[in-house]
Amino acid sequence: MEFIWKKEYETGIDKIDGQHIKIVNLINKLNDAIRDRSEDTIISGIILDLKIYAISHLVYEEKLFKKYNYSGEDFEKHKRTHDNFRNQISDFIGNPNYLPKELAYKISLFLIDWLKTHINETDMKFAKFLKSTATYEQ
Ligand SMILES: [Fe+2]
Repeated sequence: MEFIWKKEYETGIDKIDGQHIKIVNLINKLNDAIRDRSEDTIISGIILDLKIYAISHLVYEEKLFKKYNYSGEDFEKHKRTHDNFRNQISDFIGNPNYLPKELAYKISLFLIDWLKTHINETDMKFAKFLKSTATYEQ
């Protein structure tokens, strides 16, 4: 299934949007590799790239949380969703019961669902907070 980027996913924070688009491109690369029945090593490589890049995106957001003193209930919830993501992705990759292609398919579905929720429910709130912060510059 192709993940089609839509304007409604934009938070208005250029760097965050750029990183989300890169995650979408990697998800589509993974889906292409599954569709084309690429070798397991190629599929595993894309999964690893996705894991590393998605986690570096969370770290980037967490740096902004600190820099702009994001706090309160929205911050706590956002931070928890990041921690859950790190646990879930490690559980997937560390599970020896999955064959690479089966794993790739499950990870792709998981990431599509996760990214949509991540953008709509948590990043939009954070973007609103950032835009209302006097010291924030794009
Ligand atoms: Fe994000």
